[in-house]
This record gives sequence, structure tokens and C-alpha cells, in this order.
Amino acid sequence: MLSGLRGVGKTVLLNRLRGIALAHDWLTIKIEAQAGASAARDVRNVLARELQIASRRYAPRSGEAVFKSMLRTVSSFGATFGVSGISLGVDLDPSRARTGVVDIDLRDVIEDVARAMRAARQGFVIFIDEMQDLDEELLVALVAAQHHAGQNELPFFVVGAGLPNFPARLADARSYPERLFDYRVIGKLSESETEESFVIPAKSVGPTYSDEALELLVKASGRYPYFIQEFGSAMWNVATSHPFQRDDATAAIHARLQRLDSGFFPSRWDRATPKEREYMLAMAEDGEGPSSTRVAAERLGTKVTSLGPHRAQLIAKGLVYSPEYGEIAFTVPGMSDFIRRQNLER
Ligand SMILES: Nc1ncnc2c1ncn2[C@@H]1O[C@H](COP(=O)(O)OP(=O)(O)OP(=O)(O)O)[C@@H](O)[C@H]1O
Ligand SMILES: [Mg+2]
Repeated sequence: MLSGLRGVGKTVLLNRLRGIALAHDWLTIKIEAQAGASAARDVRNVLARELQIASRRYAPRSGEAVFKSMLRTVSSFGATFGVSGISLGVDLDPSRARTGVVDIDLRDVIEDVARAMRAARQGFVIFIDEMQDLDEELLVALVAAQHHAGQNELPFFVVGAGLPNFPARLADARSYPERLFDYRVIGKLSESETEESFVIPAKSVGPTYSDEALELLVKASGRYPYFIQEFGSAMWNVATSHPFQRDDATAAIHARLQRLDSGFFPSRWDRATPKEREYMLAMAEDGEGPSSTRVAAERLGTKVTSLGPHRAQLIAKGLVYSPEYGEIAFTVPGMSDFIRRQNLER
């Protein structure tokens, strides 16, 4: 389980892990959880469809009992969750994955796919991005299925990525997840990793950085992968010769901050209601934070409890999270600086 702020590289890492599994011929599927009214139904449908697509390459082995069972159960699971138009060349198994109760059907399908993969000396992985948005029912079902697979020595794995609050949601889902999963916090890079991220890709095609330019860019990036990418790309557009100089770096940072301030940050700020914005303004006084929910309430001249619904909405929108009890922080690096740069009036 990979957790971390926006733009630290969770999705890139998840895709890389998937690439490794695929290179070993493992059966993998990837889903991205979403918030919203039809999200739960949609994600089940995507899961079932992806599973059918990934299973197609085993259709030629339907003569072997274990693969035939897998293909039939995958077909059942697909039919149960509304997938049409993909045939695996077998009849569905009416006794497997046909209840419509995701907990039961997921266990059936995972069991039968994992048994076939075990016979093929391979594994089965479900990759889940934006896992903080997964609905409770499916989350609990996946945790139970992972537990069940572990007990039965089936090669099935859930690999998830999401915002910092999702491991706590997993822990709430059942009593065993703490031992069930391996949790990794993905954070900003070290100073030297940040320097390398600027220098190595540039050098591979020629250009180099002066020490002053590099120092400015490392500082402006906050060592966050997404900002390294942005400022590195801006440098490319701005500089006319190399080694890149201090002035080039200043111009690149300025230009890119302007662009972030008219797109990346406002796209998030605009999702908040006026009350929620007031709350974020109160938080921004603490810089990168975290803020105390009590202090934030004091700044707004109200009680912690009366702000609860706004805070909950901001968490649901993925704009803030609670690092510890009584604390609140932005999920997007640089958000507090943006809010202050805008010099918004309370
Ligand atoms: N290993 C990497 N190599 C090159 N660029 C990277 C790498 N990791 C991250 N990045 C850069 O950082 C950006 C953000 O990465 P990514 O989308 O994986 O973050 P994230 O943690 O999934 O963010 P979010 O929470 O917003 O989904 C990428 O678009 C890319 O520009
Ligand atoms: Mg991502």
C-alpha cells in the first residue's frame, strides 16, 4: 500500500510495479477508484471487464480443468456486474460469482483465477489507484479476499495507492489489515535525488546546470516529483544556451508558477465551497502545516465541531487529510503558498 501526497509519484510507481508483474507474465488488472454517485457501480463494472480482457489469453487453455473453471467464473463475474460483448469461449458457471453480493462473488473469482495462476506458476494482482475513493463495501471485500487468499496460499495480491488517509480507512475496514499489507509512505525526494532528477535527464541529451541554477530549482520544487517535472520542463522552454544560468532558472520558476497558479492550483481551489475556502485560508496560515483543527477553528471564531462537516467535505474532495487526530493538512504540496500568493481576503 503506497500512500502519499498529490504528485509524489504513486501512480508512476504503481504502473512500474505492474510492468514488472507483466514482464513475468502475471495476470494483472488495474482500476482507479472514483468518488461520486455512480462510482461504486462503475468500478465493479471496470473490474469485471478488465478481468475478462486479461483472462482472454488463457482461453486457449480451456481444455485444462483449472483454466476452464477460471474462465467460467470470470464469465460469471462479468455477467453479474454488467459486462457484455466479451466472450471467453466457455459457458458461465451459475454456481460461482453469481450472487450479486460483491463480497461473495469477488472471493469466488479471485479464488478461481489465483488457483489457475498457481497452476501456471504465476500470480494475480489487482492494482488500485486513488484507493481512498474506493467504496466501503468493495474495500472490505478486497481485504477479506486478500486475507482468504493468504490463508489458502493463493498467489493473489492487492497493490494500492492513495492519499495519506487511506491506510487508516483500511485499518477501520477489518481488524487484520495491519499485518495483511505492507505499507509504504511515498514522500518527497532527498536533496541529491532531486538534483539527479534535474541533471541526469538533461545531461542525457547534452545540457548541464550551473550550481546556482540547480540550487534555485531544487528549492522551488520543494523536492516534489511533480514540481521537479514542471520546473525542469520550464527550464527547457526558457533557456537559450547552457550550462543553464541563475537568471534562466529564475525566469523558468516564475513562468511555471504563473502557469500553476492559473491551472493546477485553482482547479482544486474552485472545487471548494465558500465555507470550505474559509477553512483552507485558516489552514494556510500554518504554511505546509499540519494545522491544529482547534487553532483553525479559533481563527475562524467558531467551534471545532461546527466546522466538522466542512472539514469532512474537504477530505471527501481529496483536498485535505488528517495526519493525526486533531490535525489537518493539505494533500497538495504548495497549496498554502498558492493561497497566500493569491492574497485572498477572508
Ligand atoms: N520515476 C519518475 N520519473 C519521472 N517522473 C516522475 C517519476 N515519478 C513521478 N514523476 C513525475 O511526477 C508526476 C506525478 O507523479 P504521479 O502522477 O505518479 O503522482 P501521484 O502521487 O500519483 O499524484 P496524485 O496523487 O495526484 O495522483 C508525474 O507526472 C511525473 O511528472
Ligand atoms: Mg496518481
